[in-house]
This record gives sequence, C-alpha cells and structure tokens, in this order.
Amino acid sequence: MDSLTTSPVADVLERLFREAEIADGPMIAEILENVEAGADPLVEMLEAEARDYKGLYREVANNFLSVSPDFGRLLYICARARNASRVVEFGTSFGISTIHLACAVRDSGGGVVIGTELESSKAARAQDHLAAAGVADFVDIRVGDALDTLRDGVGGPVGLVHLDGAFSLYKPVLQLLESHLEPNALILAENGTPDYLDYVRDPSNGYVSLTLPFEPARGNELSVFTRQA
Ligand SMILES: C[S@@+](CC[C@H](N)C(=O)[O-])C[C@H]1O[C@@H](n2cnc3c(N)ncnc32)[C@H](O)[C@@H]1O
Repeated sequence: MDSLTTSPVADVLERLFREAEIADGPMIAEILENVEAGADPLVEMLEAEARDYKGLYREVANNFLSVSPDFGRLLYICARARNASRVVEFGTSFGISTIHLACAVRDSGGGVVIGTELESSKAARAQDHLAAAGVADFVDIRVGDALDTLRDGVGGPVGLVHLDGAFSLYKPVLQLLESHLEPNALILAENGTPDYLDYVRDPSNGYVSLTLPFEPARGNELSVFTRQA
C-alpha cells in the first residue's frame, strides 16, 4: 500500500510543487544568472548565514525552497525501506518534504515525523498542507531554532534524519541528534557544506556516506549511521 501516489496526497503534492515553481521561479532565475556571472551560491549563502541566519530565512519566508519531486520520492523510499517510526526533519518550510516522510511513516505502520521550522508563518502553512494531505496526525512541527527545539530530545530512537535547514547548521544539528540515532539510521542531506561532508565521510565519526547523483550537484548526501551503542 502506498499513499504517496494516490489521492489526496498525490493531488496536494502536485498543487504544492506547482505553487513552489511560481513562488520560487524568480529567485531561482536570479541565482542562475549569478552563477553564469561567476558567483558561487553556496559560498554566498554561507557568508549570509554567518552574518545572520535567522534574518536570512525571515527574508525568504514566502518561498518554498522545497526538495524536488525526485528527492521527495527518495525520502519516501528511504523512510519506508528503513521502516522508520520516528523521523526528524531539519527545515520543514511549507511541508512538501514532510508530506513525503509522513506518508512513509504512515504506510510503514505509524509513528511520527518531528519537523522543525524557524518561521511560525511557514509552520502554520505546512500544518494546513499536511491536513489537506491527510497526514497531520503523523507530524509534530517544532517552531523555533532547531538547535533549541531539538536540544531536549525527540522522545525516542530515530530511524531517519532529513537535513534541509540552514546549511551551516547541518553538522551541529546532526551531532545534537546522534545520541538518539538507531543503529543503521539513514541521514539524507540536501546541500551539505564541506564541513558537514567531511564529517560524515570520515568513518571514524560512525558513518558510511555517498554523494547522491542529483543534478545540479549540490552536496546531496546519503549516509548510514554505523556506530553501535
Ligand atoms: C530549504 S527550506 C526546507 C524545504 C522543505 N524541506 C521542503 O522540502 O519543503 C529550509 C527551511 O529551513 C528553515 N530553517 C532554517 N534554519 C533553521 C533553524 N535553525 N531551525 C529551524 N528551521 C530552520 C527555513 O526557515 C526554511 O523554511
């Protein structure tokens, strides 16, 4: 049984991906123009985050910044293959990736996706989208900085983590979650930064890691947690 490709989820996702294209199109076009002119968007983002990451994400509070349909499908496949009953997501935005994860949790027999979102207005819209998709009962969105909202734990062992918030915080957020990871937990990162990639690619830190062949290449990484308790 799969709820991802059937109604109402499939219809809600189709609508949200269409809305994301309209909302984010001008911003993506500007980024592509800057790349053609020689800019490195990752370097620029990291510099802007270092100045004020909360201010930066407030400026894009009307943008989806969502995963692609293929990456969403990969999230669903990994969470289902892992039979994950507890998933943590860093960066929920309007809930596109969260819907994929919540479907996987529901289709695997139940559990919870713990979402995190800095902007309360985004979390509220994500909640509406999750309700429209019929998966709101499987998601708990923690509003605020994930470095604070995840600090006191996540209520049990975690089978899968999706990292898709402020790029510069992937490593500290993962380290915050490490004591809660199940053996063989999967970590999927969109836009992993060099310090994050160095960390998960060093086997002494307890991961085996692989770059995912998504285009454009932007540090998409799949890692498995190999450390045993
Ligand atoms: C790339 S978007 C997430 C897209 C979402 N995963 C999806 O596919 O629809 C990043 C989101 O992370 C949020 N964010 C950034 N830093 C955060 C932090 N420290 N704690 C919680 N949320 C954060 C931003 O407000 C933004 O909405």
